[in-house]
Amino acid sequence: MNHFQWPTNGPVTLVCQRKWAETSNSVSFTLAPESFEEQGVVFDFIPGQFITLGIEIDGKMEYRAYSLSSMPNQTELQLTIKRVAGGKVSNYIVDSLQEGQAVSVLKPAGQFHLAQAHGDRIVLLSAGCGITPVMSMAKTLLADDNDPTDIHFIHAATEIDQVIYHQELLSMAEQHQRFYLHIMLEDAKGSDYLEGRLTQAAIKQYCSDIADRSAFLCGPVGFMGAMKENLQALGMNMDYFYQESFTPAESTQPDVDLASGDQSKGDKAKALSNATVFVPTFGAHAEAKIGSTLIDALEAAKVPVIAACRSGICGSCKCKVTKGKFTRTSTETLTADEIEQGFVLACSCHIESDLEVALN
Ligand code: FES
Repeated sequence: MNHFQWPTNGPVTLVCQRKWAETSNSVSFTLAPESFEEQGVVFDFIPGQFITLGIEIDGKMEYRAYSLSSMPNQTELQLTIKRVAGGKVSNYIVDSLQEGQAVSVLKPAGQFHLAQAHGDRIVLLSAGCGITPVMSMAKTLLADDNDPTDIHFIHAATEIDQVIYHQELLSMAEQHQRFYLHIMLEDAKGSDYLEGRLTQAAIKQYCSDIADRSAFLCGPVGFMGAMKENLQALGMNMDYFYQESFTPAESTQPDVDLASGDQSKGDKAKALSNATVFVPTFGAHAEAKIGSTLIDALEAAKVPVIAACRSGICGSCKCKVTKGKFTRTSTETLTADEIEQGFVLACSCHIESDLEVALN
């Protein structure tokens, strides 16, 4: 079996092979190499990981992180994307991505995955499009006849027509005695599923030995906060609790302005700012307010930085602060050595003084 070779740095080009609707507001699509020589190679990743996708929209490259829903060692990667209010890239994919279209892809990454210690009883908890990484985990575990893992799969959705992968999940439950499917709907009309919220009582009803399981949780931030509290209250050992959500941190965009030739803009920047961010390689600088994020300053300075998740998860915005003071709210994907050397995730780095920055 030939394995696809991901470059250490920078994106590769993959081509959309097939695209189909999952629900009225979500689509799945697959990606494979464009070059003839690479066709037929398989992709390595750990179930639960994500890739960073770069797509040109209105002449500008936009990058976002999306979890993989397929299994490793297949010739195509599969993603499922849901329409979201104001979601420039997600909505473009749902409405406009075409089969045959090329996209840029950064290698799989992330710590939310099956290689984390989980024992042989797990619960996979998700809501909405958070189902994608846990679907990859469930399919991979079930595909191995020798794997002993017993899986409770709990998913929350608004209504039956919005359950992503519904038919596939039903077949998995039918075919595998160690896969228990539970779906909770806000409006259960037209189904036999429970209606309401995933309370502690509902979780316990679905899975009586929940306290003895490992949990993988993915979904919107509010849902994840409530589920984490529920699992804690139900006695789960939180050493075996893993979660992931791609929810961007609040942008501090109004606090930064490009120090450009535009006098009025420059004056406004001076009035607001009390730090300068300088990127020597590009001769670029931006004025920023103390406490604002480095990513906003770098984008204002128009340097080519990729910010896919803006949540301190994907690592795509890694750069190095060579001078100045800053604080970090995430060091995910950075090694101890890199942290020591001054590498930061720009989306999770807050400016504390004038800074000099080197891009990766
Ligand atoms: S954009 Fe993903 S870690 Fe910063």
